Amino acid sequence: MPAGDAFDRIGRAAFRSLILSATKHPRVQAVAARHGLRAGANRFVAGESPSDCRPVLERLHADGMRTYVIALGEAVHTTEQAVIAARLYESLVPEVTTWGRETTFSIKLTHLGLEHDPELAFQNARRIVGLAAKHSAFVRLDMEHSAVVDKTLTIYRRLRADGLDNTGVVLQAYLHRSVDDLISLLPLEPNVRVVKGAYLEPPDVALQRKSDVDAAYRQLVRTALTYARFTAVATHDVQAVRTAIAVAAEQESDFEFQMLYGVRYDLARQLVAAGHPMRICVPFGEDWFVYFTRRLAERPANSLFLLRNLMRR
Ligand code: FDA
Repeated sequence: MPAGDAFDRIGRAAFRSLILSATKHPRVQAVAARHGLRAGANRFVAGESPSDCRPVLERLHADGMRTYVIALGEAVHTTEQAVIAARLYESLVPEVTTWGRETTFSIKLTHLGLEHDPELAFQNARRIVGLAAKHSAFVRLDMEHSAVVDKTLTIYRRLRADGLDNTGVVLQAYLHRSVDDLISLLPLEPNVRVVKGAYLEPPDVALQRKSDVDAAYRQLVRTALTYARFTAVATHDVQAVRTAIAVAAEQESDFEFQMLYGVRYDLARQLVAAGHPMRICVPFGEDWFVYFTRRLAERPANSLFLLRNLMRR
């Protein structure tokens, strides 16, 4: 087995698992809470409050980018916290939509109580998506770990059955089930975001080798661009971007690229300059730590950068 392939199989998985486990440690969380945003997290997160998003959105719009906002938070396990998260969105949607430029929104259903009370999460999501419809705004349901995929898709279907068409879902290419999920959603003419997948999942649920995930991603993008009503190709992978451009031209697909704030902005600018629509995800919130650790786990160099910054303090 070539050395690069061995790192692909063992190194990357071990690295992701190490980072995602280490960051669950209370002492790591305490250090991060003290220094994190200034030590590096602000590269990926607009700030802790909604108003911190405004200058970031304005800069991105000035560069020709579209944007979406997400309030960070997840794995909420009380009714009270789920209601607080929903209220945050209920004040965010009218505020952000007055800033102009078709900014859209994403929500994580576990932030709205999915693992605590799925009906509560549905009611919360319904209020937010309904409110967004009144402001002509779109709300996507992010996809989280594999245990909540069925529940997330059920809520998506219920929202659509209630006539809320200003909503979409996310499909994760690393999951063995995602092609089937896409096919089963097609009668709804869905708006889907296609991603590789950011969670630690076992082999019976998800592909483990990066090269397999990359290939599955390109295939899922190809299928979505061919059959879905609208596809958000969410990636920073140049090869996947090339595939998407070729397929979208061939199929005359309705689509946009999406990238994360703080990642490959050079590529985002190149794509916009070439006339491709690009939407940047702008996250904010006091609960930025888990989001930040996922960005660290995606790329070893990010963790070294953080460690260097923390050691300087
Ligand atoms: P890949 O990991 O191969 O990266 C390609 C290149 O991009 C790297 O070589 C590097 O240059 C750069 N890069 C990627 N990540 C980086 C990082 N963190 N820091 C610096 N450079 C980096 N996942 C999920 O499970 N559910 C979801 O709902 C979403 N939503 C979502 C929205 C948007 C807009 C994006 C872009 C991504 C997501 N994701 C997600 C995350 C996704 O699953 C995946 O983990 C990341 O996008 C990284 O995969 P890439 O496709 O970028 O490829």
